[in-house]
This record gives sequence, structure tokens and C-alpha cells, in this order.
Amino acid sequence: MNTVPTITVMGATGHTGSNIAQRLLKSGAKVRALGRNQGKLSALQSAGAEVRTGDVADAGFLAEAFREADAVYTLLATDRRAPDYAARQAREGEAIADAVRKSGVPRVVALSSLGADLPEATGVISGLHAQELQLQRIASIDLLLLRPASFFENFFEALDVVRQTGVLADSVAPDIAMPMVAADDIAAVAAQALIQRNWSGIAVRELLGPRDLSHAEVARILGERIGQPDLTYVQLSDAEMANALVGAGLSAGFADLYIEMTRAFNANRVHPLDRGTHRSSTPTAFEDFAGRLAGAHAALLSTREFVKTN
Ligand SMILES: NC(=O)c1ccc[n+]([C@@H]2O[C@H](COP(=O)([O-])OP(=O)(O)OC[C@H]3O[C@@H](n4cnc5c(N)ncnc54)[C@H](OP(=O)(O)O)[C@@H]3O)[C@@H](O)[C@H]2O)c1
Repeated sequence: MNTVPTITVMGATGHTGSNIAQRLLKSGAKVRALGRNQGKLSALQSAGAEVRTGDVADAGFLAEAFREADAVYTLLATDRRAPDYAARQAREGEAIADAVRKSGVPRVVALSSLGADLPEATGVISGLHAQELQLQRIASIDLLLLRPASFFENFFEALDVVRQTGVLADSVAPDIAMPMVAADDIAAVAAQALIQRNWSGIAVRELLGPRDLSHAEVARILGERIGQPDLTYVQLSDAEMANALVGAGLSAGFADLYIEMTRAFNANRVHPLDRGTHRSSTPTAFEDFAGRLAGAHAALLSTREFVKTN
């Protein structure tokens, strides 16, 4: 007789974790949804999840939340305002590995990143490489490492700049085609892996979206959807990008790592190892996702209009 699995989901109010928790609940699994804000977790609680709040760097909190679970979904939730972002990534990674060992949970699906095969000079991604190694050292678990490309969702954060300046801007080179993926597609793969027992040992899965896109193309597609067909992409210098990130409230330490990551993108050092296999391709096209960005852009415009006229 099949028993109902208990699955713990870290970051259950975030891009991937929220969708994973919803999918697991729909499948009939018992879900422990972790976050730091009870209010933000209340929708999952109403949908049947057991919610727990605590700090992701607290190994004791995590070990309790992982205990007697059949599988866990882990991620580094690192706050981009942390002054020493890399040190915080390392602390969270250690807490997760410690909790996995202490709790005895047998199966782990860990969110990593494309480029996590590289040990250094990839900025933010280097911390995920270290986290992969830490988890791989735990002999008692079956481990699935998910290595998604850049999320489509990152462009939500660019919309206010689009509204203010009329351009899409970043330090990535305009014409480099790179894989990008929808967070919901990552969630679909993670949820399936958490429920099914069709993998064992250490497995790695890249998640790449249906096709590679340059930032110039992203601007063209987004521009059409928001009624600004002349929207262009502007590549910022490293110094301009760092200033923009710090101006938006992120730490100087995070900005340095972001710049190092985009340099690695621009030098084409972060690339798929699994290219061309249908396993790595995910279904949602940016053209379809752009509708969600357009909705958020319209909401931003109407809020600003409301503020201006009141
Ligand atoms: N964005 C990309 O393009 C990309 C690509 C590859 C890999 N990644 C990796 O993806 C990971 C982030 O995953 P995501 O986008 O699904 O998550 P996310 O949207 O960034 O959300 C983070 C989650 O963790 C929670 N959280 C944050 N700080 C916490 C703390 N101190 N204690 C407890 N919970 C905390 C957040 O709660 P609140 O809702 O309360 O904030 C939220 O549920 C990162 O490790 C990143 O490097 C990202």
C-alpha cells in the first residue's frame, strides 16, 4: 500500500518553493512549508500545508523541519542585502547540510544553478558550487541537483527602470544568447522528483527553457507586449551596474558577485553541459511569460498614475 509522503519545502513563499508546495499539495502529499513570515505562508496553510517559520541559517530549525520527511527541497535563500553575501551563502549551506545529516532525511532535491560545475569566478554561482559539494559528501542521501538557467522572473525587477528610463538595462552583453527558464517549470520538475522515486544516487539536471535568448531579444519581445515596440536593451558598464544595484538597496558585496557572474556570462563560461537533450528543455517560452511581465508593468503604470493624480 502506498503511504502519503511528507515533503519539506524550503523558501515556500519564493519563486520556486511556493509553486512546488502548491503542486505537492495538489498531488496529495503532506507538505511542511518553510519561510520566515507567517502571514506570507497563510495561503499555503489554508491549502493544507503545515507551515513553520525560522531562519534558514539555523541548523536546529531545519533539522526539526526535515525530521521524518520522505524528501526535502532545499535552496540558499540568501538576502541580497547581506554585507558578505558569500559568507551568508556558506552559512546557510552548512546549516542545510548539517540538518540533512542530523534529520536522516533520505532524499534531497537541491536548487543550484547553471554554472555550478565551475569552482570559481562565477560570482553568486560559486556559492552554489560549494553547496553542491557539501551535499554530495553526505553518503546516506539520494541527491538531485537542479541547475536552472537565469529565471524569466528576474525581469520583474527591471520593470520599474523600464518605466522610468524607457530602456532595459544590465551588464550582460546585448547579443549573447543564453538559456533562461520559468520558475514554474523548475517547480514542475522539482515537485515530480520529490514525489516519484525514479532517481537515485547523485543526479544532476539542467533546466534551460525552450530556446536561448539574448537580452536584445528580450527587450524586443517585452517592448511589443507592453506597447513600447522601440524598447531597447542598454549594456551598462560594470561600475554603472554596481551603482544601480547598490542604489536599489542591495549590498556592495552582492553587487561585486553579480558583476563577476555577468562577466562569466559575457565570456560564455557559464553554459549547459547537457545541451540538446530533451531532458533539459522546459516548456514555457519567454513570449508567453512576457504576458505576466506586461501585466505587472501595466499595474506599475496605473499605480504611478494614481499616485500622480491624488
Ligand atoms: N534568479 C535566478 O535567475 C536564479 C538562477 C539560478 C539559481 N538561482 C538560485 O535560486 C535561489 C533562490 O530561489 P527562489 O528564487 O525560488 O527563491 P526566492 O524567490 O529568492 O525566495 C527566497 C525564499 O526564502 C525565504 N527566505 C529568505 N530569507 C530567509 C531567511 N533568512 N530565513 C528563512 N527564509 C528565508 C523567502 O521568504 P520571504 O518570502 O519572506 O522573503 C522566500 O520564501 C538562490 O539560491 C539563487 O542563487 C536563481
